[in-house]
Amino acid sequence: MEIEKELAQLKKTREEAKSGGGLKRIEAQHAKGKLTARERIALLFDAGTFEEIDPFVTHRCTDFDMAERKFLGDSVVTGYGKVNNRHIFVSAQDFTVFGGSLSEVAAGKICKVMDLAARNGAPFVAVLDSGGARIQEGADSLAGYGEIFTRNTLYSGSIPQISVIVGPTAGGAVYSPAITDFVFMVKDLGQSYITGPEVVKAVTGEEVSLEELGGATVNATRSGNCHFVCDTEEQCFQQVRRLLGFLPQSYKERPPLADTNDDPNRMDEEFLNIVPVNPTQPYDMKRIITKVVDNSDFMEVHEKFARNFIVGFAHLDAQSVGILAQQPMHLAGALDIDASDKAARFVRVCDCFNIPLVTFVDVPGYMPGTDQEFRGIIRHGAKLLFAYAEATVPKVSIIIRKAYGGAYIAMSSKSLRGDINYAWPTAEIAVMGPEGAVNVVYRNEIKKSENAEEARQRLVREYRDKFANPYVAAARGYIDDIIAPRETRPKVIKALQMLRNKDICNTPKKHGNIPL
Ligand code: HXC
Repeated sequence: MEIEKELAQLKKTREEAKSGGGLKRIEAQHAKGKLTARERIALLFDAGTFEEIDPFVTHRCTDFDMAERKFLGDSVVTGYGKVNNRHIFVSAQDFTVFGGSLSEVAAGKICKVMDLAARNGAPFVAVLDSGGARIQEGADSLAGYGEIFTRNTLYSGSIPQISVIVGPTAGGAVYSPAITDFVFMVKDLGQSYITGPEVVKAVTGEEVSLEELGGATVNATRSGNCHFVCDTEEQCFQQVRRLLGFLPQSYKERPPLADTNDDPNRMDEEFLNIVPVNPTQPYDMKRIITKVVDNSDFMEVHEKFARNFIVGFAHLDAQSVGILAQQPMHLAGALDIDASDKAARFVRVCDCFNIPLVTFVDVPGYMPGTDQEFRGIIRHGAKLLFAYAEATVPKVSIIIRKAYGGAYIAMSSKSLRGDINYAWPTAEIAVMGPEGAVNVVYRNEIKKSENAEEARQRLVREYRDKFANPYVAAARGYIDDIIAPRETRPKVIKALQMLRNKDICNTPKKHGNIPL
């Protein structure tokens, strides 16, 4: 009989824990158009698989009458469950308890599941909706952030870490998402900024709204802090589930094979109509990517940031791959600072998690100009070279059109340990474009000739015939083969199958020193 009473008490206490900050605050959360932590968790996991940890934890603060204000579980819901039948660990801040603010014990709960995720080799998803450090707790709360940042860092590259920002994230709190591999934000809900509009106005005199300063759109387009921006929370958690499907559980595993069922030998005559004959005319590189990959299913990462460079995940013959490519429709596909940062980070995330790299090249060079030079295109461009050279996963590239100068070398070239490098017959591999090259090499000859423009055009034609093709590079083995566009998919798939057991190690060291 006694046990019946105990069980009834347990049930009651558990129900209390589930109600977070209480019905009124849950209603207030809904009135703001936001879901509760538990509703978010239900969207993330396969139905009925979530197991909560630490539902009875309460804070230890006694200042500011806090001893009388305790909520079971405090301001975060933590635990584990399954996504597509694979284990995932989660922390979801509960805004109904002190605005999701981070207390000492909330940080402890988050660290506990992060440690479990790392020890058991499973991804960690953090759902952020918080007023920041628990003001009443002072340094205890700040130290809690430090503990989380340390784990974000130590587990980086070991297990996938994903942040989902569905409420405020301000001040130093933004640095946990910034260290993780992927950041999702929901429009009109997610906010991420170092200092809010009032402080900005006081310090710089600038007037800016919260949304303009740190909303999802600005973080996705301008700063690049956010990789995926979604319209609704439902869509957001669906996309998190989709992303997890491309990733392995940890660095020790390969990503799962997908049930794509697309013919690996499928050829496509349409390729011939995509790339214009005129080398200065743009075209949409995404049309090529979607024709090559399984079922045209391409999950673009960082879609709205540095649009001159495309990165994202797809499958090729069911195998998860990271796709990288120039987008000639934006800035002619030139490599600038943002594109270099975006691409280098993506190369490294794929390399951490055993995801082969497939690179489509059409690059006219690095972006010229004082703006880029002064802001450090040298330092940032170096990241991409470093990332490709260092990566040990299979690397396959296809030069579609232009591959000029240092940018050609940066794009997964043979000399950066590219495994298989293909070129279409339309490829132009040279130190620079014909116009620039002729102006440098034949400057005096052009000046001396009676009809300078005619002479220049003749020399451009000659240069193009001699160098602006893939045969010179193929003759030296920098290109492994020149392939017909229609056979791109089967050729890349065969190369990836051949590279499936690639096993190389880099020079032993403590760690590399990527130019940051
Ligand atoms: C304790 C907090 C809190 C906090 C909110 N609350 N933020 N309690 N510490 N940081 C409480 C409120 O008192 C309120 O309690 C409940 O959460 C909901 O807050 P509201 O203000 O009613 O909600 P809303 O109008 O939606 O506004 C949300 C907000 C605002 C914009 C986040 O609460 C706010 O500005 N909070 C302070 C943000 C801040 O400056 N944080 C410090 C950032 S610096 P009741 O009991 O009424 O429900 C930082 C440093 C990190 O975090 C350093 C890392 C190294």
